[in-house]
Amino acid sequence: MKTHKIAPSILAADFGNLQRDVEMVNKSEADWFHIDIMDGVFVPNISFGMPVLKSISEHAKKFIDVHLMIVDPDRYIKTFADLGSNMLTVHYETCTHLHRTLQAIKANNMQAGVALNPHTPVHLLKDVIQDIDLVCVMSVNPGFGGQSFIENTYEKVSELEELIRSKNAKTLIEIDGGVTDKNAKQLVEIGADVLVAGSYVFKSKEPIKTIKGLKELSF
Ligand code: DX5
Ligand code: ZN
Repeated sequence: MKTHKIAPSILAADFGNLQRDVEMVNKSEADWFHIDIMDGVFVPNISFGMPVLKSISEHAKKFIDVHLMIVDPDRYIKTFADLGSNMLTVHYETCTHLHRTLQAIKANNMQAGVALNPHTPVHLLKDVIQDIDLVCVMSVNPGFGGQSFIENTYEKVSELEELIRSKNAKTLIEIDGGVTDKNAKQLVEIGADVLVAGSYVFKSKEPIKTIKGLKELSF
C-alpha cells in the first residue's frame, strides 16, 4: 500500500493551549497541519483568521495545508502565501474563474487545491484536473468539526481516482470530515492520499498515539 499523509485539523485544538497542540503535532507522525479558515458567509461558522495562522506558522515545523471556506478567495491569495501556507485550497463553489485562481495560487509559490462540497460532482473538475495539486473531498458539509462521515464519499473517491488516472495527473486526494478508525483504512485502500482528522485526534486521550494509528492504519 502506498504511504498516505495525516493532516490533523487545528480547528479541534485547544486554542488556550495552541502552542502545546502545535508542538504535539510537530512531535507526532503527522505529515501536515490542516488549517480551516471560515468566513461566516460561505459556511455558517467563523473559525479564526490571519493572526492565529501567523502564530501557528511560527511554531509549526511541518507542511501547512490551508483550507479556505470563504467567498471570493482570490482577495487573500498573497496574504496566505505571506503567512506561510504551503498548500492553498479553495472551494470549487466559490470560484467563478477556477483556472485563473489556481494559476494565481501557484504564482505565489504555493501548491493549489480545490475542495468539493458533498453535493458537488467530481466530473466538474475534468478540464482542470491537471492544474490541481490536491482535491479535498468534503466528507461532511463544511463549517464544523465533529460531524459524521458521509458514506457517499467512497464512491466520489473512486470516481476521482479514476479521473486522475485517466488524465495522467499527479493530483493528491484528501478526505476532510469525520475521519476515524472506522473509515481511514478503506479510504486509503480506494485511493486517499491525505486524511484530515480533527476531533478524532484532538479529543482522544493520547493524540500522538491516535495519529500513529491513522498513519499505520492499526486500530
Ligand atoms: C470542516 C473542516 C474540517 C474539520 C474536520 O469544515 O473543513 O477540516 O476540522 O473535523 P473533524 O475531523 O472533526 O470532522
Ligand atoms: Zn478542512
